[in-house]
Amino acid sequence: MHARITGTGSYLPTTALTNYDLVARGVQTSDEWIVERTGIRSRHIADDSQKASDLALAASLRAIAAAEIPAEKIDLIILATSTPDYIFPSTACLLQSKLGVSGATAFDVQAVCSGFVYALTIAEKFIRSGSHRCALVVGTEVFSRILDWNDRGTCVLFGDGAGAIILEASEEPGILASAMHADGSQHGILEVPGNVSGGKVVGHPFVKMDGPAVFKFAVKVLAEVAQEVLQKAGMDSAAVDWLIPHQANIRIIQSTAKKLGLPMEKVVTTVDRHGNTSAASIPLALDIAVMDGRIKRGDTLMLEGVGGGFTWGAVLLKF
Ligand code: ACO
Repeated sequence: MHARITGTGSYLPTTALTNYDLVARGVQTSDEWIVERTGIRSRHIADDSQKASDLALAASLRAIAAAEIPAEKIDLIILATSTPDYIFPSTACLLQSKLGVSGATAFDVQAVCSGFVYALTIAEKFIRSGSHRCALVVGTEVFSRILDWNDRGTCVLFGDGAGAIILEASEEPGILASAMHADGSQHGILEVPGNVSGGKVVGHPFVKMDGPAVFKFAVKVLAEVAQEVLQKAGMDSAAVDWLIPHQANIRIIQSTAKKLGLPMEKVVTTVDRHGNTSAASIPLALDIAVMDGRIKRGDTLMLEGVGGGFTWGAVLLKF
């Protein structure tokens, strides 16, 4: 039994915030600095009324429509987010309620920007085990809620959005190989070191990041994990039609592509328009390239992510 993607969907909040808007809001930065260091020109920001589950719902409905299945068919919901609606219940359960269905297994995965790769890998294992047949896998973030707008080193990097896929049991190969890794000793280079206790926020509830350390770590592990999954599948990078990397920074993406020997024409990039949408960035980029016709049935795709934890992983699949 294989697990194959049968539908993709995504959603971006309507409000776009450009680099020029950030400068106008008083952030001590410039369009030139942000574009040169990150490739980001604009990002989308959710309205105050929108929660991670609302963005997830819009993306999920599109994925369900693309897969041409009734929502009742879904027997597994795995949702990746670092910006959940509540401490509990899980955002996956809230999404299930908004979809108007019940009974399916539903839970969240917390692996920050690697969250979607983790969630997809877990869903594939459920399907291959025979316990489940139709999974909704979602990455959704309202990252703007955990940004300190006075910290120019982080607030310029992130945006909000959601992406979703339907993964179904199939006799045809879909996911070919995957890998998930973590190194908790590196938690301090990218974290939101706060929690709620006694009705108060304890610690620091905003993103804190050592940018250069993250950059170095990301470039190293992304190239390694891509090679690892290619090796597992007995394939060469020349077989990859599209690389769909986590959209953190164009320089990290370019460096990974170069190490894999892939031209940028084979890389899907959305970081210029979306910024870093953490767990949502990979399924968002995937859906955009499916919708504009670049990615076609039968293409070989490499999805890969890296994020806080530190966590990283990759999935090689036939679309
Ligand atoms: N605008 C203008 N100047 C800035 C800004 C800004 N937004 N942010 C920082 N600076 C300044 C710093 O204060 C510093 O000034 P100084 O030299 O006077 O002290 C100078 O720019 C250089 O700072 P660095 O942090 O060394 O800049 P660097 O070239 O490393 O670029 C960046 C910073 C873009 C964050 C880079 O380190 C990076 O991309 N790191 C990866 C981080 C990342 O992608 N994180 C996403 C989350 S993790 C993930 O998704 C994998």
